[in-house]
Amino acid sequence: MAGLFITLEGMDGAGKSTHIPTILQILAQGGREVVSTREPGGTPLGEELRALLLHREMHVETESLLMFAARAEHLQQVILPALQRDAIVVSDRFTDASYAYQCGARGLPLAKMQQLEQWVQGELQPDLTLLFDVPVEVSLQRLAGARTPDKFEAQGAEFFARLRAQYLARAAQFPERFRVIDAHRTLDEVKKSVEEVILSI
Ligand code: TYD
Repeated sequence: MAGLFITLEGMDGAGKSTHIPTILQILAQGGREVVSTREPGGTPLGEELRALLLHREMHVETESLLMFAARAEHLQQVILPALQRDAIVVSDRFTDASYAYQCGARGLPLAKMQQLEQWVQGELQPDLTLLFDVPVEVSLQRLAGARTPDKFEAQGAEFFARLRAQYLARAAQFPERFRVIDAHRTLDEVKKSVEEVILSI
């Protein structure tokens, strides 16, 4: 596969969405096609599944299967074709979010997630994953002042602590692809770190 697959991860409230325009702008300067997308979503069907996933309560297995249903569509319709034509794909969340939210925070056994991952993705993994990391209290504070929360954003400190622990465990497990960004700093400082990582590609 010729393209480059970059994913952005972090707890709700970590601030990752703020930095996406910077990332896209730097990548676009390289002259290659850049595809910006997100999960769950990224396709018309995926966006319909997103609306269900973010607002309807459901069993964690149902939730995991729907996440991967959306992901299968996203891979087949958007990500794989883009990588095949040598584009850079930037996805706001991917499978690490499933490990963090459905396994870490909601308790789905890792082995079940690995089966879904293998089935839907085979050996495909992101080339680079930026993990925006903040302490749990910071994330909760930022969310408290924001818009009406979706069902994940409405969870409490324990859920967020399990989520963060799983994200950090994934970063430690796959150090060659993860870059952990300390997002508990000023916007300018975080932006500088993001720029450094993207410029180093
Ligand atoms: P998010 O990416 O934070 O979008 P927004 O900035 O618009 O709120 O919202 C997606 C939510 O879906 C987020 O709470 C994490 C959750 N999620 C999972 O639980 N599992 C997954 O596999 C993915 C991709 C997302």
